Order: sequence, then C-alpha cells, then structure tokens
Amino acid sequence: MPTKRTAVSVTSARASSVRADALVLATRSVDGTAELVEVAHLPRAVTGAVSQALAVWGAEGRADEVVRLTEIGKVSAPLVLVVGTGPDAPRPGVSGPDEAERMRRAAGMAARALAGKERAVFAMGPPELAEAVGEGALLGSYAFQTYFGLGKSEKAKAPLGEVVLAGVKAGSRQGRELGRRLEVVSGAMDYARDLVNTPPNALYPESFATSVSRRSSKKVSVQVWDPERLEAEGCGGLLGVGQGSGRGPRLVTLTYRPRRAQASLAFVGKGITFDSGGLCLKPATGMVTMKCDMGGAAAVAAAVQAIADLDLPVAVTGYLCLAENMTGDLAQRPGDVVTMRGGRTVEIINTDAEGRLVMADGLALAGEQRPDAVVDIATLTGACMIALGNRTFGVMGNDEELIDKVLSGAKRAGEAAWPLPLVEEIRSTMDSPVADLKHTGEREGGAMVAATFLAEFVGKSVDGAVLPWAHLDIAGPAFNDGSARGYTPKGGTGAGVRTLIELARSFSG
Ligand code: BES
Ligand code: MN
Ligand code: ZN
Repeated sequence: MPTKRTAVSVTSARASSVRADALVLATRSVDGTAELVEVAHLPRAVTGAVSQALAVWGAEGRADEVVRLTEIGKVSAPLVLVVGTGPDAPRPGVSGPDEAERMRRAAGMAARALAGKERAVFAMGPPELAEAVGEGALLGSYAFQTYFGLGKSEKAKAPLGEVVLAGVKAGSRQGRELGRRLEVVSGAMDYARDLVNTPPNALYPESFATSVSRRSSKKVSVQVWDPERLEAEGCGGLLGVGQGSGRGPRLVTLTYRPRRAQASLAFVGKGITFDSGGLCLKPATGMVTMKCDMGGAAAVAAAVQAIADLDLPVAVTGYLCLAENMTGDLAQRPGDVVTMRGGRTVEIINTDAEGRLVMADGLALAGEQRPDAVVDIATLTGACMIALGNRTFGVMGNDEELIDKVLSGAKRAGEAAWPLPLVEEIRSTMDSPVADLKHTGEREGGAMVAATFLAEFVGKSVDGAVLPWAHLDIAGPAFNDGSARGYTPKGGTGAGVRTLIELARSFSG
C-alpha cells in the first residue's frame, strides 16, 4: 500500500491550548539534567509541571532521550512528549546550523515516536528554529510501506498525520513560505528515499526514467535516451555497463531554465539500479544493499524538481546515468576497451568499478553545455566509506571555491561532508598499454582514484579552461543499514538532496 504523507501547518496560538494528540517539547542537557528549551507563550503552570515531572523521571536531556508524560494540567493534548537535544544548545539567541541540526534530529525522533497518531503540535524552541523543527519532524515521519503485504499492512502504523509548528502565524506570508519550503524539501527527500528503497526488480533504468518523467512539473522538461540513442550519441560508458542486463541503460536529462537565472549548474548522478559487480561479481554480503547504488541519481532527480518548485533563479540541468550492472552473456569483460562520450578510450579492468564509467558519459555531456559549475554525486567507492565512515560524504574536485560552496551548503542542510584531496601522482596509475586510460588505478586512496578518473571527463569552457567541478561520494550516507536515528530512517536516506538544493541557493545570489 502506498505510504501516507505527513501534512504540515503552522499556528501562533498557545501551543498548550492547541487540540492535538500530543504536544512536543524539547530539553537541553545542563550538567546532566534536562532543562526545557524556552518557548514563547507557554504558561508557567505548564512548564512548571513538565519540569517537575522530568525531574521525577530523572530526565537528562540526552540527544536520544524521549520522555512521555500524561495528565499534565492546562495542556489540551493527552500526551506531552519531551525530546532531548543534548548538552550543547540550543540556548536563547543562538540558532546557527549546529543548533538547527540538533533540533532536526530531536524533532525527527519525536515524529518517529508519534507514528500512528493523527496530529502533534511541536513547540521545541524559538521561531528562528521552526523550519529546522518542521524539517526534522517531516523527515522523521517518513515510512516506506509500499511493499507491505498481507502480513504487515494491517498492523503497520501510519506515519504521524500532521505536524503543527507553534510560534508561526498561520495565514501570514512568513507562514505560507515556510510551509511551502517544508513541503518542497520534504517531498524531495521522500521521493529520493522512495527511489532508493524501491526494490531493484521494480526500479530499473526504464522504470526510473518513467517515474521521473511522471513526477516532473511543467517547469522541468525531461528527456530520455534509450540504448539506441545512447549508441548514436557515443555513450560507451553507459552502454558497456548496461549490456550485461536485459534491462538496458537510459540517460535522463532534466532541465529547469528560469527567466532571470543568475547562474547555470549541471548535476550528474550515478544511477546503477542494481550493482552485482558484473563479471567481477561482488560477494553475497556486499550485494545485499546494492539497490542503493542509484542514490546519486535519485538525489539529482529530487533536487532539480525541488529547485524548480522553489523558483530559485538558477538554471539547472540534471543528468541521470542509469544502468543495471549484471552478468548476462553480453556483459562487459575485463580487457574490453570502450569508447566514451567525447572519444576517449578506456580499458576495462574491474567490472565492479562501473559507476565511474556511466558517470564519465554524464560528465562529458554536462560539460558540452558549458554550465558555470558541474557537480556530480555518486555512491562511488567503498574506499570513501573506509575513509569517512557511513554518515559523512566525501567532497573532491578541481575548484576550491566550488568545494567550499558545497561544504557550506552541506553544513546549512545538516549533512556531514568532508574534503579529500586530488593528487597528481594518482593519474599515472591509470595508464593503459592498449587504451587512453584504465578505469582503475592503485588501491590506496580509492575514493581519490575514482575522482581522478572522473576528472578526465569534466568539460572545458569556451576559453579552454576546465570547468569548475565538484564530486560528492555518498557511498556511506546514502543508505542506513542500522536502525533509525533522529530524522534518518532505515534504508534510503535522501543523502545529498538538501546539499544540492542549498548549493543552488548559494548560486542564486
Ligand atoms: N557501488 C559500489 C560502491 C559502494 C560500496 C557503494 C558500498 C555503497 C556501498 C561501486 O560500484 C564499487 O563497487 N566500487 C568498487 C571499486 C573497486 C572495484 C575499484 C569498490 O569500492 O570496491
Ligand atoms: Mn560496483
Ligand atoms: Zn556501484
């Protein structure tokens, strides 16, 4: 059954008087005890009773703490849910990106605890943090129940029905814009997560392309290249990787061109709908989560549509490099030489290093339009997970300014990102005796090796200078193998979506 989406609204009414199934409050941890985060218009009787109950329970305000209180006088809701935000804030007057992220996580945790309820009013902090609270609550409400069958569909709790944000006037311009932004951003995250979670027998290049075409609004035009067209266009990377599957590759282009564009961006996403490794087959344990290998393309598809829905004055073209990496009788072999878009030849070494091959075609195509910047996003290397763990994505590229923009965009979005260097000595490890280059090099620094390969395919501007380019390796954070935490569910996470949106914002002046 398709999963119900959570609604959002705002209210400037006193939170404790709002009719709802639960009132959500936040605490910070001060010397190991929970202290309520200040909220306007909460009667002293309420804050006093809640604080007293928290003391009785021995609440500490830890970032993973959920306290459920009932029968609190002068509160309309039958349940008061108090969530911790941890030791370092938010404090009055301090609402930077770190405070916002603590709020998102706590609100997400509250939303998960409230699954099955109709309506909850969130009064977790000052109005400046309302957007973060709303984002966390909506993202935390996400559930993927599309494939629940007879065994589960009856019993499964629907996500929280409605998030009511206290402290923002309903009907005000500020309230409307906030609501709109929250709907667009959470809708984009839902979509990216759904795409990643959809099983690979249902989501393959053609069905991915169809989904994106159906979802696109008038402001975004979508073009799909099938294998025949890819052949005509010389996209040997996509064709080579896709030829081992009965379900052929696709290249999807999404174009958003607003009237007063301040800049033009190209986003290129890796869309391997399933990565078996190809003939260089992955071990069974490494293959289980490989439906997530299209997380980059999912982020691009979701972000481009969101940027258009937000009417940001930036032209954006998204390129989704879609293929299934399988072992059919026509599968690409180690030793094959393929000709990529643009004419470079590549000797195939390890068929499991397929991502960089499809991305090379996407990058080459993106460069031909000469955008102001090219940003690619891919679940590219296990090496990046070894380097940075599974919550932080790696950022590489050829332009310090663009890399800084990506990192600060990620910071504002609440996504963990960290730079890795591109170093000269790697390139020669990809020299090939038979082709222009091999697609793998030395094992050490594998994330940087992959990026060094990609760098070869980044286009040039009219004056011959290489285009500013940044590469986001999201292999770690794209998929959550562990249990749900904060606003991050199990499975697809939507990694990169909000960073790409924030990046577009930073180009819109
Ligand atoms: N899709 C994988 C990378 C990956 C691993 C993503 C784990 C998410 C979780 C990629 O196609 C791959 O297999 N990379 C190889 C490259 C190697 C053969 C040079 C890797 O990282 O081992
Ligand atoms: Mn692979
Ligand atoms: Zn892959």
